[in-house]
Amino acid sequence: MTLALHGGTPVRATPWPSWPPPLDPAQRELVTGVLESGLWGATQGGSLVTDLTAAFARASGVPYGVAVGNATLGLFAALKGLGVGRGEEVIVPAYTFVASATAVLLAGAVPVIVDVDPEHLHLCPDAVAEAVTPRTAAVMPVHLAGSPADMDALAAVAARHGLAVVEDAAQAHGATYRDRPVGGLGDAGVYSFQASKAMTAGEGGLIVCREEKTYEAVWSVCNVGRRLGGQWYGHPSVGWNLRLTEIQAALLLPWLDRLDDEIARREAFCAALGAELAHLPVTAVPAPPGTTRDSRHLLMLRVEAPVDREFLLAAMAAEGVPLDSGYPPLGGMDALAAEGARAEPCPATEEAARGVVWVRQSMLMDDPARAADVAEALAKVLSA
Ligand SMILES: Cc1ncc(COP(=O)(O)O)c(C=O)c1O
Repeated sequence: MTLALHGGTPVRATPWPSWPPPLDPAQRELVTGVLESGLWGATQGGSLVTDLTAAFARASGVPYGVAVGNATLGLFAALKGLGVGRGEEVIVPAYTFVASATAVLLAGAVPVIVDVDPEHLHLCPDAVAEAVTPRTAAVMPVHLAGSPADMDALAAVAARHGLAVVEDAAQAHGATYRDRPVGGLGDAGVYSFQASKAMTAGEGGLIVCREEKTYEAVWSVCNVGRRLGGQWYGHPSVGWNLRLTEIQAALLLPWLDRLDDEIARREAFCAALGAELAHLPVTAVPAPPGTTRDSRHLLMLRVEAPVDREFLLAAMAAEGVPLDSGYPPLGGMDALAAEGARAEPCPATEEAARGVVWVRQSMLMDDPARAADVAEALAKVLSA
């Protein structure tokens, strides 16, 4: 069979579902209402940011939340609110989006980049333990691709060394670990509503936390250093305006009601694809132990056949099944090193950067019967 890359017929000619999905009636009504009210900002008396924050905190199993402009700022604010600062170290995984590390830099701290577990590609608890120094103040587990990090093991290391735990839940809306929602497992958890995420308002983020003291500190960081309930021009600490708008909250609030259905849809696609892959040298990267719900933001696939990576990605795209190349190792980024980030050896991350590709969320939203397209294109390309 001639590859589409070489002029053959592509496996898939129809487009994949678009992301975000079309506005639903509840979103349309809320957004229109906000636009017409003129109460667009979060401090003008509208209630949607407050409602979203409360609903999201509840869904995360914790009492408090603070909505922010994006998750990068959310991670920064969580670290600041927890007192992590200049010269202190924060341990982050090497296989994550660059923002996990740049948020640490924004807080004036040093990202210490350590390896992931070779099997599930989430932050490796042993690597964290080895990287701890007297300056380590926090660890940042990332709930990668929608599945929870190995939280019990990471929490044990953190407790042993007195470290704060800031969960990067940017990709994991609705995921649970031992039946508890991610985001509410550590000292603070941060979600993203950026355009590619499972719930999106184009941009946005939300911090959740359990302790009132943390909430007050994080709220102040995000509200120009004001004290909760304090004066408008009272700024007892230094903070910034990091707030979400009411318009964004209007897009997000109704999404909470359909998140479960969307996760179930992606789960069905992943299950169908798993069955289709049985006869191919391609396996789905498993979720870490303790995962009770993988929210399936992305499906990470490990390609076990010797194939040129650029060819694989180009040939799959030509077949109408575009895959994502995934993250380059953070430890190899000169810009982070130039700002003082320190990287430990990360062989598992380097292997993942060479051998793992991702199926995007929008593709996972398709009819599970269409999982066969992914498998057929992989079979075609890997046998070329
Ligand atoms: C793992 C991870 N952390 C942090 C971020 C940063 O989120 P945002 O774009 O909302 O700042 C993202 C995504 O963009 C992400 O995937």
